[in-house]
Amino acid sequence: MHSRSRSRSFLNLALALGLVATAASPFIATAAAQDDEETPLGEQMEELQSGLRRLRKLVTKPDEKEATLEILRAMQGHGIQAFALGPEPPETLPAAEHAEWSVNFRRQILKVVDQLLVVELAVSEGRTEDAKSAYKELGQLKNAGHDTYQPD
Ligand code: HEM
Repeated sequence: MHSRSRSRSFLNLALALGLVATAASPFIATAAAQDDEETPLGEQMEELQSGLRRLRKLVTKPDEKEATLEILRAMQGHGIQAFALGPEPPETLPAAEHAEWSVNFRRQILKVVDQLLVVELAVSEGRTEDAKSAYKELGQLKNAGHDTYQPD
């Protein structure tokens, strides 16, 4: 008798937990979807990333010049779009520092675009070694930008 009532109350508890989980699941799903959603700036960054990945081998291949130039010019466009979008300053940053934070973001993005132009010129002129070393600097500029603006 005693054990039956305990098992019934266990059953009730399990049912109640199940109901709570079912009711909460749409909210959990929404929160996850929001986390995964790309911001407009994030989309431009993804484009820069995929260009960078495709360029890695191409910059060493002078016979792939036209394909390489096409990617470089597309990336310049994505850099310019990232410039126009910019991230919101973090809530923890004092208002007096917002202007500097935002201006420095755009200056760092312009450095990326300028470096893409350096690579473009080297590729156009068939200077493969210069193109390779200029390409490597793009990775450094990315890391420098992310150190400050995308710390996670
Ligand atoms: C060639 C250079 C760069 C590449 C390939 C690159 C790549 C990326 C990638 C893959 C992401 C993750 C996107 C996502 O899934 O949300 C990202 C995010 C971000 N990057 Fe870059 N990045 C570059 C340069 C920079 C620079 C120079 C800065 C700052 C001046 C910067 C600031 C940011 C910020 C703020 C985010 C977060 C965007 C968001 O989610 O709203 N990135 N970047």
